[in-house]
Amino acid sequence: MKQMHITETVLRDAQQSLIATRMPIEDFLGVLDEMDKCGYHSLECWGGATFDSCLRYLEEDPWERLRTIRAHLKHTKLQMLLRGQNILGYHHYSDDTVRRFVTASIENGMDIIRIFDALNDLRNIKTAVDACLTAGGHAQGTICYTLSPIHNLDMYVQLGKEIEAMGCQSLCIKDMAGIMSPQECFDLVSGLKQAVRLPIYVHTHATTGLGYMTYLKAAEAGADGIDCATSCMSGGTSQPATEAMVYALSQMGFDCGVNNDELKLVNDYFVPIQKKFAENGTFDPYVLQTKSDALVYQIPGGMLSNLVAQLKAQHAIDKLDEVLAETPRVRADLGYPPLVTPMSQMVGVQATVNVLLGKRYQNIGKEIKAYIHGEYGKAPGEINPELIQKVLGDQPMVSTRYAETLEPEFEKAKAELGDRAESDLDVLSYIAFPQQAAHYFEVRDLKKALIAEYTIKEVK
Ligand code: CO
Repeated sequence: MKQMHITETVLRDAQQSLIATRMPIEDFLGVLDEMDKCGYHSLECWGGATFDSCLRYLEEDPWERLRTIRAHLKHTKLQMLLRGQNILGYHHYSDDTVRRFVTASIENGMDIIRIFDALNDLRNIKTAVDACLTAGGHAQGTICYTLSPIHNLDMYVQLGKEIEAMGCQSLCIKDMAGIMSPQECFDLVSGLKQAVRLPIYVHTHATTGLGYMTYLKAAEAGADGIDCATSCMSGGTSQPATEAMVYALSQMGFDCGVNNDELKLVNDYFVPIQKKFAENGTFDPYVLQTKSDALVYQIPGGMLSNLVAQLKAQHAIDKLDEVLAETPRVRADLGYPPLVTPMSQMVGVQATVNVLLGKRYQNIGKEIKAYIHGEYGKAPGEINPELIQKVLGDQPMVSTRYAETLEPEFEKAKAELGDRAESDLDVLSYIAFPQQAAHYFEVRDLKKALIAEYTIKEVK
């Protein structure tokens, strides 16, 4: 029987795509033991925006969250998404940070680390892959899938070969915008299957309505695994539904290795959680609309909702169509970067600024300048020479891997934090998100003081 691995994303991508990663651990603690019985190949539960969100909005220690999930998931592999040299942040960190972060993730319970670079510049995932392998983890190399005049099948197959040569144990095709068509997926998986020996995992979103069909063609082409979300947290900007994919694939002769009764229990658990977020407005039904426009504009669903929010805040929502038309032009000027974090935000903000000021590139964002300087890696295509001239003048671009130019960060941050840090993990949180982590440490201290005071009163 043909096997198809199922990765459940409800704790990471599904909630990131539908409710801006606002699910606190209390909302899923009660279902973790059940999830362990489902027979998933892996549970994507950490990384991506979860780390930032824990510190920024949920007053939770992300490391403690990971250890708690690990304690309950005794039989299921845990999986995370890592942005290569950006770790879980939005700029490049030094190699010592990346190494320590990856090692700590594995030491605290992570099994599989899916590692990508927003520009598919594989120099930027090398340190993370190496650290993952050294620490005994499973390194999954990633191809960010995008469409542009310069991206083609040969280029992706070449990337696959390089990922295999780096020592990764598996390969992911990451279609963050849900724009990969069933036929494109079939061709790509088939091409990669011929070129590499690695197991191939396909990741897509239901945003444009193609997702379910794309997964079926992935299966037909011999993909080894797909990412799905429990049904009440599936669809729209999230993944296709776990139960529906398993149902369809089973009839086609695939063994997904899952227990359907357990899948139902897990979904039953999340139904009231989903309802809570719908009632408090966090879950906006807009995210469930099928957006075939994304096929025209190539804009991921999450990015689209950000653009809408930005324009609403500026009282300029009537400019949405102009911004949507400007976005692909900015992307072309920048050499067609895939629209994935952090590039999606950077391109979106620049397109908005270009439209709102009525003049293109009158004001250029700090991050875009850094990108043109080479601080995010090598652009996939050619950057508009006029833009280079405008930003850099006679200053040369960075041609080496940018992290080579960065000083080690850990010891400096540790000294800076002093006794505010309770552990080296606190130092890593602080390096990743200085203000958010510092704020979290204060909240934590306050909570402890309150508990201590309460305990003393009780004793008296
Ligand atoms: Co995704």
